[in-house]
Amino acid sequence: MALFEWKEEFSVRVGAFDSHHKRLVDLLGALDDAMAKRKSAEVIGGILKELIAYTRYHFSEEEKLMTSLGYAGLQQHRKEHEWFTGKVAQFAQKHQEGGLGVGIETMTFLKNWLVDHILETDKQYSGFFNTRNVN
Ligand SMILES: [Fe+2]
Repeated sequence: MALFEWKEEFSVRVGAFDSHHKRLVDLLGALDDAMAKRKSAEVIGGILKELIAYTRYHFSEEEKLMTSLGYAGLQQHRKEHEWFTGKVAQFAQKHQEGGLGVGIETMTFLKNWLVDHILETDKQYSGFFNTRNVN
């Protein structure tokens, strides 16, 4: 099983969001692990539920800060968040209906999306927040 860990290069230079991202990485790692160990549908469903709740919380915290400081990239950023939230909800729904594990493809998709979003989209706000004393 490939290890999925937060790395220093993922840092967006905003402490609160780095810890949110670490938590998301941990949840995806837990999902990976539960799949590899063929845990029950209840266990996997529970992690998915937590992942959805935490993803929503994290995205709304980012968007709140962008809104209050007038970040120009907010609309585009929010679109990415909404798209991902919809995808995760879809996976959870499918899981609930089928009682099946989350497939490798789904896991790869979730992990790749998160890493790409942090590296390419989130990192764009680092300078904006840092110059406004958000570190
Ligand atoms: Fe984001």
